[in-house]
Amino acid sequence: MSDDDGNVWVRLSVNGDTYDVVVPLQKTLLEVLREDLGLTGTKHGCELGECGTCGVLVDDTFVLSCLTLPIDIQGREITTVEGLAQRGRMHPLQEAFAELGAAQCGYCTPGFLMASKGLLDENPTPTRSEIVDALSGNLCRCTGYLKIFEAVELAAQRMAPVSEGSVQEEVARGEARV
Ligand code: FES
Ligand code: FES
Repeated sequence: MSDDDGNVWVRLSVNGDTYDVVVPLQKTLLEVLREDLGLTGTKHGCELGECGTCGVLVDDTFVLSCLTLPIDIQGREITTVEGLAQRGRMHPLQEAFAELGAAQCGYCTPGFLMASKGLLDENPTPTRSEIVDALSGNLCRCTGYLKIFEAVELAAQRMAPVSEGSVQEEVARGEARV
């Protein structure tokens, strides 16, 4: 229900915090995140669903916040790029992007990180073609994409569970022979 001015009350869960906002019914999630919640890591791009830079996760699924109305996702968990780092430590995807030069001007990076996290949450060991496919809705004018794909592969390797008897497990237990 909207008030006489066309505003609606919405309760949003973002990065584990709860926010109550009163906003115009047609105000997009992108605008609410940036203007009402101060979460400016999510970027304005085309606002037409074509560039991916506004991407966030809603219940672990990558969505374009420029095409999403807050009232439609009440009660669901929203994760933005600000929610990636945990306990002061960057997410492995953020570390890999920084190490490999997968972010240059960085404007597209939040969208790529969130699309990549959505992919790895669902498929922890994606092939190169699965990575390319998952990121096909995100545009970057700087990197040529190769470094981004390599960074996702590096993060996936680092996040892979350590299997019993593997070299990684021996290293973790201090038993590896060098
Ligand atoms: S700003 Fe949302 S897809 Fe471009
Ligand atoms: S790093 Fe500049 S647009 Fe992607």
